[in-house]
Amino acid sequence: MEIKLSKDYEKLSSLVAIIVAAQILENPQSKLVLPTGSTPLGMYEELVRRKLDWSLVETFNLDEYIMNPDHPYSYHSYRPTLSFEDKMNVNKGIDLCILGIGSNGHIAFNEPGSSFKSRTRVVDLSEQTIQDNSRFFDSIDDVPKQAITMGLGTIMESKRIILMANGKHKLNILKVAMNGEVTEDVPASILQKHNDAEVFYCD
Ligand code: PGA
Repeated sequence: MEIKLSKDYEKLSSLVAIIVAAQILENPQSKLVLPTGSTPLGMYEELVRRKLDWSLVETFNLDEYIMNPDHPYSYHSYRPTLSFEDKMNVNKGIDLCILGIGSNGHIAFNEPGSSFKSRTRVVDLSEQTIQDNSRFFDSIDDVPKQAITMGLGTIMESKRIILMANGKHKLNILKVAMNGEVTEDVPASILQKHNDAEVFYCD
């Protein structure tokens, strides 16, 4: 699978923003899955600048931390996951899904070993992901240990998928995922099986 190289982060961000904007212009009632993390920040800034009409667009979060897994409330978290899946099915699916990639090859919070058939669910985060994401928190102890994530099976039902990656530290895992064996040990490798998935990278 081709890894399309952008000249710099601004180019990567505007390229993906243009794809999102075109989708919304073509279908104002688009259903989009959007990521968090550091990579898409420039894309969001560019989308804000474009002043699109989001009033009919429906967006879904790719994943979400469970901030307090020991609290009794967390036992209810399976209910949002079910209603999330129901809503996507009722609405005949996602038009465009934007993804990042973790240094261990995860997409959303589908860590290595996740089933390719997995649906939206509660997951334990890997040590690598907790380490990687500790930069967003005061201390590594503050990083949530669990999350709700769209499943790999759910993501693959999107009509179109764009994966964006920023930084040399992502290049090796990108090559393994896009050109290596399709294996649940490298969750992003499932994208090789999608008929409308593209990968954009800048170093
Ligand atoms: P990042 O995270 O954009 O902060 O690098 C991506 C990911 O972990 O999926």
